Amino acid sequence: MPGDKSISHRSIMLGALAVGETRVTGLLEGEDVLATAAAMRAMGASVERVGDGEWRVNGVGVGALLQPEGPLDMGNSGTSTRLLMGLVASHPINVSFTGDASLSKRPMGRVIDPLSEMGASFEASEGGRLPLIVRGASPAVPITYRLPVASAQVKSAILLAGLNTPGETTVIEPVPTRDHSERMLKGFGADLSVTMEADGTRVITIKGEAELKPQVIDVPGDPSSAAFFIVAALVTPGSEVVIENVGLNPTRAGLVEVLRQMGGQIEFLNEREVGGEPVADLLVRHSALKGIEVDPAIAPAMIDEFPVLFVAASLAEGVTVTSGLDELRVKESDRLSAMAAALTLAGAGIEEREDGLVITGTGGTPLPGTAADAQVTTHLDHRIAMSMAIAGLVSSGGVEVDDTRPIATSFPNFEDLLASLAG
Ligand code: S3P
Repeated sequence: MPGDKSISHRSIMLGALAVGETRVTGLLEGEDVLATAAAMRAMGASVERVGDGEWRVNGVGVGALLQPEGPLDMGNSGTSTRLLMGLVASHPINVSFTGDASLSKRPMGRVIDPLSEMGASFEASEGGRLPLIVRGASPAVPITYRLPVASAQVKSAILLAGLNTPGETTVIEPVPTRDHSERMLKGFGADLSVTMEADGTRVITIKGEAELKPQVIDVPGDPSSAAFFIVAALVTPGSEVVIENVGLNPTRAGLVEVLRQMGGQIEFLNEREVGGEPVADLLVRHSALKGIEVDPAIAPAMIDEFPVLFVAASLAEGVTVTSGLDELRVKESDRLSAMAAALTLAGAGIEEREDGLVITGTGGTPLPGTAADAQVTTHLDHRIAMSMAIAGLVSSGGVEVDDTRPIATSFPNFEDLLASLAG
């Protein structure tokens, strides 16, 4: 599997803030991560590709990011945008962020609010969207902030702003989200503590004016990319596939749990640690899946995997009910309506509700596929394109998608890999 996107972004950002040379292997060389690399270069760091997935980053030091000469183009990447807004918020620089049509529709108010409390100011487009300008505060003011949405991007933006803020910045997280920022900040030597309250709320505190030490980082494979192949193997009769190098951080591994509840045969082989994260190879066999009611509490641990779970559910026996998924409406596309439309076009039984989909599966019978003159609309969303490619594997007439270019944001060799398996 290609390198984890979340970890790849963070390795470049933190490397760019550590004085000295950080070496990264297994970096995801997708467009989103390349946007982060270009932005850190524009703010003074040296970020160099030295081989396949092998990068060297020479950082400027916390507090020493430079004023970029022009706007930073974040392309399709919400993670780059929100995390970098956090970094810029506590530096004495003004940065203008732009993005593609999908990113320009996504809400930035969720990071603008806490970063404003820290002293940064913003000039955003209508509705708190891109293009926008961040004017960093120097010094910024430490805050204690309770996350109103379960978002690792918001949490990370505040912690990254806290790196160059005098005193202690605290994020209270009632629902746990992916913890790669916490793990990596500690790895780089930041003074960061995490305590858990009796009800599961996490309190994360970072001490500011940190000095980060350069690291050697091996990025584990991305579970969100592996998800497409896990589902492909489960739903395609006769399949037995080993997927190597899959990150299994508990804050990311919800899909495997849900698919097992549905009857999916997924075994972990060769469990190990890569870059401070749990990793295994996954042996996945074709399985007769059954519809279930998915516990909404698991959503943050599989938030990017719902599009492909909907595909699995479309081929399961019985009804799968999902709920509590309002956040899916503000991803690269509105993933509830995009997947409802896409799967309906492919002949699946879908009911769209406000906060989830209800899916009546075929019990393993292939989907009809898209009609000769119909195409799935991907809305500049890589995960819609890849999910519907998997749906196409188990359809009698095939599935046609309008645009496969967004796949390059997160999984540049997806099509080759899928073709090599399907052949
Ligand atoms: C990410 C967090 C999630 C996820 C995104 C990557 C991250 O977004 O959907 O693909 O790297 O922090 P939210 O924070 O909006 O849930």
